Amino acid sequence: MHRRLIVPGALAASLLLAIPASAASYAPGAPGIGDPYYPAYGNGGYDVSHYDLRLTYQPTTDELEGTATLLATTTQDLSRFDLDFLLDVSEVRVNGAKASFARSGEHELEITPAKPLAKGTSATVVVRYSGVPSTKSAYGFSTWHRTPDGAVAADEPESAWWWYPSNDHPLDKATYDVSVAVPDGTQAISNGTLQSTSSRLGWTRWNWRSNKPQATYLTTLAVGKFDITTGTSDGGVPVVNAYSKDLGDNDGAARASVERTGELVDWLSGYFGPYPFSSVGGYVPNTTTGYALETQTRVYYSPRQFANGSNTSVVVHELAHQWFGDDVSLKGWKDIWINEGFARYAQWLWSEHEGEGTAQELADYVYASHPADDAFWTVAPGDPGPDDQFDIAVYDRGALAVQALRDKIGDDAFFAVLKGWPKEHAYGNASVDDFRKYAERVSGTSLASFFGTWLFQPSKPAAPAARNAGLAPAQAAKGAVARPKSWKKIAATDSVHSR
Ligand code: TRP
Ligand code: ZN
Repeated sequence: MHRRLIVPGALAASLLLAIPASAASYAPGAPGIGDPYYPAYGNGGYDVSHYDLRLTYQPTTDELEGTATLLATTTQDLSRFDLDFLLDVSEVRVNGAKASFARSGEHELEITPAKPLAKGTSATVVVRYSGVPSTKSAYGFSTWHRTPDGAVAADEPESAWWWYPSNDHPLDKATYDVSVAVPDGTQAISNGTLQSTSSRLGWTRWNWRSNKPQATYLTTLAVGKFDITTGTSDGGVPVVNAYSKDLGDNDGAARASVERTGELVDWLSGYFGPYPFSSVGGYVPNTTTGYALETQTRVYYSPRQFANGSNTSVVVHELAHQWFGDDVSLKGWKDIWINEGFARYAQWLWSEHEGEGTAQELADYVYASHPADDAFWTVAPGDPGPDDQFDIAVYDRGALAVQALRDKIGDDAFFAVLKGWPKEHAYGNASVDDFRKYAERVSGTSLASFFGTWLFQPSKPAAPAARNAGLAPAQAAKGAVARPKSWKKIAATDSVHSR
């Protein structure tokens, strides 16, 4: 509860001096940021602008230790506040003074500063910590991935808890300096640009900087033995890639795909506008997972993405996320279509470019290949629910909705929307509803019932709607649409879906 006293200046000043922070106006920050899909994720009462992580990691023992310094601004009068974190904390300081701290819930670190924090003031929070991330879990799981030569933090929506304390929700984006010391001969990979490395007494410190707002789950760390390649795209974007030295038979295909990052980011810029970050690239560690993840500026690829040979489609998908998901992040996890519908659609555009099936053909195929009684249509990409957040329908039905929009508003307006959207919400957050409003503004068309049909209706859009969207209903009804050549390759990026 906030209480405002209106009193003359001098009296106000004396009151402020005389009355300590009262329980009435100073309250704990909420233990969650308010996302209905994940009520405990993120926290209330403050906003982080910068993370400085100065860490040391020992691959043989999985021991991580160091200091996190967070720069934050309070958004309410705070008696205490939470961070999300699992490792062992030895000391917390707020604005230089020792703070007390306690654990609660699955991943909350409750911090009580020596002096309460007034709304709208800045707070510097220092957390000293250590621990073995692979021994920690929340809700019974861990997403910290050990490898024979180190470890990787790259997962969605949860990955930060195992290696740094944070306000763990995409709504609170911040810049990062990630500095990690590892034994000489081992590399530490993170987001952004490599500012410098230095070696001392058998340890090499890697200093990475991400100078544009970045969501917590898009912040990544990989420690291991990597071969690092560097370059610059034709369009002038610096490229840094890294390959585990232990990729075995996948090594060639991984490089044949990820080394095309510069070319593909330039190609995507043609659709989405200038690349929004200071560098780009990907890394392929020797993990046993199957997925890829759009970690900002430095995409994570599982080696298995390259088990069937080169795969430029997955590179296009993850790079498209740099605009759709990373530059413009979702407001709540219900808005996942903002990420996945467009990243999948970019794969369709790439298929078209490669002469392996047009976006329209891929849309027609999705429409035709799922009969009306297929559970596929019960998933609403515009608000799929936490259990279906990464269901295949969010991707395929999601991209079908994007093609339907193109057919509805025409190529000129559609491509203006694709290019204008990242500018409209640059480095910020947006919802599905924000997208509807933006598309309506650019196209001059009311789209409420259109999006209702394609993104929210829990059943297959009827033939008339499909016809309006440019599909051929006769073909569609028979399921007689030919499978585009690119279909299998695109589907091979789908290793995380529940169905
Ligand atoms: N966002 C990732 C992609 O489409 C895929 C993904 C979904 C994922 N859920 C995940 C990755 C969980 C890692 C963990 O590119
Ligand atoms: Zn994706």
